[in-house]
Amino acid sequence: MAIVQKHGVAWLARRFLGAPSVERGSAPRQASRPRRRVASASMTTQIDAIRTAILEGAPAEDIAALPLPESYRAAVVRADEQEMFAGLASDEKDPRKSVHIDDVALPELAPDEAYVAVMASSINFNTVWTSIFEPLPTFGFLARLAKESVWGARHEQPFHQIGSDASGVVLRVGSAVRNWKPGDSVTVHSNYVDDQDPSAHDDAMLATNQRIWGFESNYGGLAEIALAKTNQLMPKPAHLTWEEAAVNPLCNSTSYRMIVSHNGSQMRQGHRVLVWGATGGIGAYAVQYVLNGGGVPIGVVSSPDKAELLHELGCEHVIDRKAEDFKFWKDEHTQDQGEWRRLGKKIRELSGDDPDIVFEHPGRQTMGASVFVAKRGGMIITCAATTGFNIEYDNRYLWMMLKTLKGCHYANYREAWEANRLVCEGKIHPVLSKVFTLDDTGEAAYQVHHNQHEGKLGILGLAPEEGLGVTAPEMREKLLPKITLFRRHGSAPQAPPRAGADGKATRSSGHGA
Ligand SMILES: NC(=O)c1ccc[n+]([C@@H]2O[C@H](COP(=O)([O-])OP(=O)(O)OC[C@H]3O[C@@H](n4cnc5c(N)ncnc54)[C@H](OP(=O)(O)O)[C@@H]3O)[C@@H](O)[C@H]2O)c1
Repeated sequence: MAIVQKHGVAWLARRFLGAPSVERGSAPRQASRPRRRVASASMTTQIDAIRTAILEGAPAEDIAALPLPESYRAAVVRADEQEMFAGLASDEKDPRKSVHIDDVALPELAPDEAYVAVMASSINFNTVWTSIFEPLPTFGFLARLAKESVWGARHEQPFHQIGSDASGVVLRVGSAVRNWKPGDSVTVHSNYVDDQDPSAHDDAMLATNQRIWGFESNYGGLAEIALAKTNQLMPKPAHLTWEEAAVNPLCNSTSYRMIVSHNGSQMRQGHRVLVWGATGGIGAYAVQYVLNGGGVPIGVVSSPDKAELLHELGCEHVIDRKAEDFKFWKDEHTQDQGEWRRLGKKIRELSGDDPDIVFEHPGRQTMGASVFVAKRGGMIITCAATTGFNIEYDNRYLWMMLKTLKGCHYANYREAWEANRLVCEGKIHPVLSKVFTLDDTGEAAYQVHHNQHEGKLGILGLAPEEGLGVTAPEMREKLLPKITLFRRHGSAPQAPPRAGADGKATRSSGHGA
């Protein structure tokens, strides 16, 4: 049986704890600086005790009694380095230089929040944006949040603890929390809203001060401990490991809203859906939603390896944009409508018709083509502009063909919960392809920045190794080939750096979750 249950908390304290614990009061403390020194012995032993208790399956009351460390390790960018890449092209801005693993002082806990012991997290594209300080350094977001309340003020620090995904275990909850308790295994979604704001009470994504956790707030998931509002918590899928569970919330929820929700494109049976970046973070979940809902995905990728992966995912119609040499731009200023037509022809050849829905996110490089190829009366739904947010398309094809161009951003709690439920039920699967340690967060962000990845990259937090955290082994066994599809591919040779539709390496200022 678990060592905690066998020996009790007193044993754990003797075994691991050399220093008095930190208990949190109700008033926020002064802002603190990140610590760049080596972790203290007491911090290490308290973190070790938390890790051990979780790994050993300690009961809730033992988790609740574990002392909290004064500080913990976290992936951060530093305010005093936000100009470090000034004058460089986006591709030359290197997350390995800007992301540091620093000691961060444990912030005070607000009444509606939880401390989460992070077992694993993941890289999202917003990790890239934060670490290359584009389109803006994220410290401005933290300063804005700080103005809202005394609790908001905690977020304005000389560091930004990044990360918009997490799986882990609740360590403590604030006094106003009803539905969660220490010991609960959770995933954390990143819609960060103020529930006292009336504008947050229809679709929370319409809230005037809606934020993305770990991007527009501090104390995100790429750390040993994260601070989350408890309306970000969701049950951890029991059949998944910590790292498999951690990669889903942000991308899975985004794709759920874009494809399934009435707030998105509300895809119906038989709809054809053109999915750009169909083995990327959001694209790989989008393909699963299209297939689950009886739609027909036409997936676009940029290498034979990704094409093969996409076929294995169940997507019959695959376009390798590199092999087909699509060049939607003749030069920096001029699009090539002949290439739009060639893409439309290719889609019709493969699937028999024009796409009812285009799942858009590359932005400037592809939007002209996306608007053109969408079916008369169809929808182009967009959540990002990775290759540039100043978009150009021929408006005649939009209005005369009665198409809709719709903006979509992340997901409200209900949508994230539904998307998580589908993962819990084994109907949507993680797209984890590789796993890194927290120390290698910068390297993982670098690989996403340069399109060297498939699906999602996981980061281990307190989990000492991959493969832990499964509590429904029989369900896992049944679904194993689907759960591990991207992981098996992740060990294959990597794709070359990202190429744009013009064939050049691309990265331009964008903004997305
Ligand atoms: N608003 C939101 O809530 C939200 C949420 C999640 C993500 N996002 C944003 O959505 C974007 C994609 O996120 P992600 O996690 O899927 O990133 P990702 O894992 O890097 O995948 C993006 C995919 O886009 C494709 N791509 C890149 N450049 C392209 C180009 N020039 N032309 C065509 N396809 C191109 C790549 O696929 P191939 O090279 O194989 O074609 C790549 O796999 C990011 O900008 C991110 O910030 C927004």
